[in-house]
Amino acid sequence: MKLHMQGLSKSYHAGHPVLDVPEGTLGEYGLEGLIGPNGAGKSTMMGLLTRRIAPSTGSVTLEDGKTTHRLNPLKSHDVARLGLVKTNQRIQGFESLTIRDSLRLAATPFGQETYRGVLRDTTMDAAIETEIDAYLARFKFDDPDGFAKSGGEKKLLDILRCMILKPRMLLMDEPTAGLPDDVTQEVMKLVGEKVKAKEMTVVIVEHDLELIWKHCKYVHFLSEGAILFHGTPKDVKKNRVVAEKYMGI
Ligand SMILES: Nc1ncnc2c1ncn2[C@@H]1O[C@H](COP(=O)(O)OP(=O)(O)OP(=O)(O)O)[C@@H](O)[C@H]1O
Ligand SMILES: [Mg+2]
Repeated sequence: MKLHMQGLSKSYHAGHPVLDVPEGTLGEYGLEGLIGPNGAGKSTMMGLLTRRIAPSTGSVTLEDGKTTHRLNPLKSHDVARLGLVKTNQRIQGFESLTIRDSLRLAATPFGQETYRGVLRDTTMDAAIETEIDAYLARFKFDDPDGFAKSGGEKKLLDILRCMILKPRMLLMDEPTAGLPDDVTQEVMKLVGEKVKAKEMTVVIVEHDLELIWKHCKYVHFLSEGAILFHGTPKDVKKNRVVAEKYMGI
């Protein structure tokens, strides 16, 4: 899946937009990075792409190989139904559901997602329960029938909830911030498997540049709301603008 941005901008106040992308494409290379300094507009871009944030100008289209979908008229849950899903930089919720139930909620067919419905549902597909058990074991949750406690656990749960939705394109906003190193490695292994199997296209926002260089095939550099450079990790690493504006070299 690919996302095209055309004349896409977001301004909160009259004057300087926080994002301004005349033209751009994400998702051509399987696993891509989106990097840039704090406040560059990375989360804003991901919010615009998934219709969590309404643009000030411009449009977004999603290409799924057969159809080109105009996303502007859609709500974020319609976008998710098309297979485009986003993880969150800041995590909320998870207080009222156990770890297992919040994964079961993610697996509930669209339109039936009510807490009580999920908890009462004893007919949930055995294959989904098996998949959930496999994730719980793979990521070694101490107490899957308790509540997520640490920020890291909630962050991981947010990622796994997205995985259970089986998106065709996944946008990850600082997925590994706050995760222990071994969990980060396992998350990246999981992402790598999905991309390799061509099950999904992934775009990752991260400040951990080593992770970006190691895993991404292509990297977009955003600064002050504009995509200033994009290329292979090798090209981005040696680009002067990136070095000056972000790496402080
Ligand atoms: N709701 C809002 N109202 C006003 N300004 C906002 C709002 N949301 C974001 N901004 C501003 O937009 C700019 C871009 O923010 P954004 O969160 O997209 O940056 P980012 O690249 O994700 O940064 P970080 O790496 O710190 O997460 C920032 O200057 C921010 O203060
Ligand atoms: Mg951000």
